[in-house]
Amino acid sequence: MNRAREPIIALSGVRKTYEPEREDSYVLRGVDLEIGASESVSLMGASGSGKSTLLNLIGGLDRDYEGEARVLGRDLRRLDDRELSRFRNLSIGFVFQSFHLLPHLTVRQNVSLPASFNRRRSAASVAGLVGDALERVKLTHKADSLPTRLSGGERQRVAIARALFNQPSILLCDEPTGSLDQRTGAMILDLFGELNATAGITLLLVTHDPGVAAEAARIIKLEDGRVIADSLSLDQKENSR
Ligand SMILES: Nc1ncnc2c1ncn2[C@@H]1O[C@H](COP(=O)(O)OP(=O)(O)OP(=O)(O)O)[C@@H](O)[C@H]1O
Ligand SMILES: [Mg+2]
Repeated sequence: MNRAREPIIALSGVRKTYEPEREDSYVLRGVDLEIGASESVSLMGASGSGKSTLLNLIGGLDRDYEGEARVLGRDLRRLDDRELSRFRNLSIGFVFQSFHLLPHLTVRQNVSLPASFNRRRSAASVAGLVGDALERVKLTHKADSLPTRLSGGERQRVAIARALFNQPSILLCDEPTGSLDQRTGAMILDLFGELNATAGITLLLVTHDPGVAAEAARIIKLEDGRVIADSLSLDQKENSR
């Protein structure tokens, strides 16, 4: 029998409030969503519509929700703290608008930060993973620089290399081009496209910019904590004609 593959992200009836004591304070109001392995998806919606809340939940940063969230086949709420941090560290890469690099550490040290949560890795394997990640973002030549010496686009590439360190299955990006100029942003988007196409990384990208959103194959729109649209992006439709 030809059974459909289980989606890599599956949300069903997900609701979330930050103020449970207040009535009608839900910021996610029943989200049903399935994303398959190796998909590239943009998440759009007005400020306050719940995009970051949803991303945090999928990434295991927030377990305080109602409904069911399965990521990589695991019910996130059933994981204990140790399992959850292991899941976050090994399976999920986060990329944020403001890079979140540590300014007093070199590029190489920033990229190897995830190793500090997994003491079983040898120094040689850490060095190898840092090398691979920096190569992917084409920053090998900046390994010993401090982030303050880099351009915005380069800083974001360091943050992406750090997110790639543990070779995650899913990359969650919250407005990753929001503080970059258009040209630099386009380079970062090309990089995501390449990681999706060549490494098969599942990409979920929050953005306000319709041009950025169209770079993904599928666009999901949130309004007031609900999915109000879910469709192939225009580029994708044209390609399939
Ligand atoms: N830690 C928090 N405590 C209380 N309320 C929060 C918290 N984080 C978010 N909220 C509220 O939840 C709602 C959704 O916020 P969220 O950050 O998910 O929106 P967003 O779609 O990412 O918006 P933006 O585009 O501005 O980043 C907002 O009304 C926000 O004020
Ligand atoms: Mg947000």
